[in-house]
Amino acid sequence: VKRIGVFTSGGDAPGMNAVIRSVVRTAVHMGIECIGIRRGYHGLINGDFTTLDFNSVSGLSRRGGTMLYSARSKEFMTEAGQDRAIATCKLLGIDGLVGVGGDGTFRGLQVLARRGIAVIGVPGTIDNDISCSSYTIGYDTACNTAIDSIDRLRDTMQSHERCSVVEVMGRHAGHLALYVGVACGATAVVIPEQELDYEHDLIEPIRRARINGRTHFMVIVAEGVKGGAYEVANQIREATALDTRVTILGHVQRGGAPSARDRVTATHMGYEAVRLLVEGKSGRVIGQQEDRYVDFDIEEALSMKKSLDLQTYTVMGALTGMEQVKLRQ
Ligand code: F6P
Repeated sequence: VKRIGVFTSGGDAPGMNAVIRSVVRTAVHMGIECIGIRRGYHGLINGDFTTLDFNSVSGLSRRGGTMLYSARSKEFMTEAGQDRAIATCKLLGIDGLVGVGGDGTFRGLQVLARRGIAVIGVPGTIDNDISCSSYTIGYDTACNTAIDSIDRLRDTMQSHERCSVVEVMGRHAGHLALYVGVACGATAVVIPEQELDYEHDLIEPIRRARINGRTHFMVIVAEGVKGGAYEVANQIREATALDTRVTILGHVQRGGAPSARDRVTATHMGYEAVRLLVEGKSGRVIGQQEDRYVDFDIEEALSMKKSLDLQTYTVMGALTGMEQVKLRQ
């Protein structure tokens, strides 16, 4: 392996820069040249790149966002787009590619692998929804950012004796909402995986909290829930007459300096990605399992299913009275 490429794709996540730094520094250490592809698959199609060396990634692990930019490319879904991406790899003499992102990124890597390009995927998304890995880069920072905002909200909700409905990110998954809900001592958490019975899962926990002396309430809603935070707030207002306010945390959760966990995980995964390429491996996704770094065939990784952390769900239920809640299969 003489020259490798690295790119970030899909929704950005804190820690992506730390992966880039680790890939570059590991490559330099192993005597390999490194090229950064800008704007994900879009850049691969259009030959948009920059050369990266030891110094160009200095101080990068503490920076949020991604220095290589990120994008979601429709063109890469077409055969013509894929042909152009392959042509770029050939023109630049890229012997291996490291792609950082989520499921969509890995599906793109799978296409390239089938066409003979050596590829390794690194899970980077604040959603923590990559099935082959118990952890995805960016999740910890996003949770901490959300928790910080929710703690601030709590102060004002307490002063005005209101009910706060906070929407956190997670288009398809409730991991972030559940974790943040536990950390913030939420009155209830509403997630897409749950078959929601408003009266039982939401209104009753609020009533119980009021009977136990609470005068303000914190409800966490995952973005992927039908109707989102506004619908949940309407239901609460109608059923309880509480003064209810909606806050959508949105993209603020994707920014900021990565936490220690994200920097360190990113550094390990970046290293592992280069190591695998040097060993001649391809079509693999890095994962974390019980504190160990492992790798899976992309096909297998994409076919795996990740369920909610049931232990956290049970604890949350015990503390809020949601223990009878049913999860979707
Ligand atoms: O996948 C990460 C994520 O932040 C989701 O939680 C969210 O639904 C989506 O990306 C938002 O994407 P965009 O940045 O395109 O609005």
